[in-house]
Amino acid sequence: MTPHAAGRQSRAELRFAAWYDRINAVAEQRWAGRLRRRLVADLGGQVLDLGAGTGANLPYFRAASTVTAVEPSAAMREHLTARLGGAQVPAQVVAAVGEELPFPAAAFDAVVCTLVLCTVPDPARTLAEIHRVLKPDGTMVFLEHVRARGLVACAQDMLTPLLRHFAAGCHPNRDTLAALRAAGFAPRDVEAFKPVPRFPLIAPFVAGTARPAG
Ligand SMILES: C[S@@+](CC[C@H](N)C(=O)[O-])C[C@H]1O[C@@H](n2cnc3c(N)ncnc32)[C@H](O)[C@@H]1O
Repeated sequence: MTPHAAGRQSRAELRFAAWYDRINAVAEQRWAGRLRRRLVADLGGQVLDLGAGTGANLPYFRAASTVTAVEPSAAMREHLTARLGGAQVPAQVVAAVGEELPFPAAAFDAVVCTLVLCTVPDPARTLAEIHRVLKPDGTMVFLEHVRARGLVACAQDMLTPLLRHFAAGCHPNRDTLAALRAAGFAPRDVEAFKPVPRFPLIAPFVAGTARPAG
């Protein structure tokens, strides 16, 4: 792993891992759980869940031969490992970062990124790695909150330093769909939505799939 991932975890990162499931509990119940199920249940073959966190996607995989859950944070990995027993398909945890995936080219039929491209330190390098490890006819699945427009985007720029500290590196101001296209993916079936209207700075969310562009 890179020094970023292998180094000591800050208190903020440890706190974030400890509180993550509790912070998200209401959202998971109201909308995120349903969406996770829809996005990952039918993914077959070898599936990579990148930045798997505490394992929120794990219970929803149904068709995968194996899920490889990559997670650099040791604190997150503790929760993730504890959740392996609840998976319906064989799953394993790997300590690594998205910018340097320890897998051969074209190793996966599908790569899942949920709420992770906002956090990785180097999204372009991470997307290049996803492109490398995904089969040419494979599917990338994403659920991300992304940059808004106009004044809200300016407010997101101002909020970013604070959120990066308190939410373990989260950037609310990333244009992830543009980054996907720049990395050679063709996003499809993109759904944009604002699940929590009273948090306009962590919105919109986008969910969909992307294929390596021809
Ligand atoms: C907001 S959490 C999302 C967790 C999970 N995917 C979910 O949907 O709940 C972001 C995750 O990305 C992980 N992460 C941070 N830097 C990363 C990197 N360079 N490569 C892969 N994952 C990373 C964090 O440790 C954290 O678990």
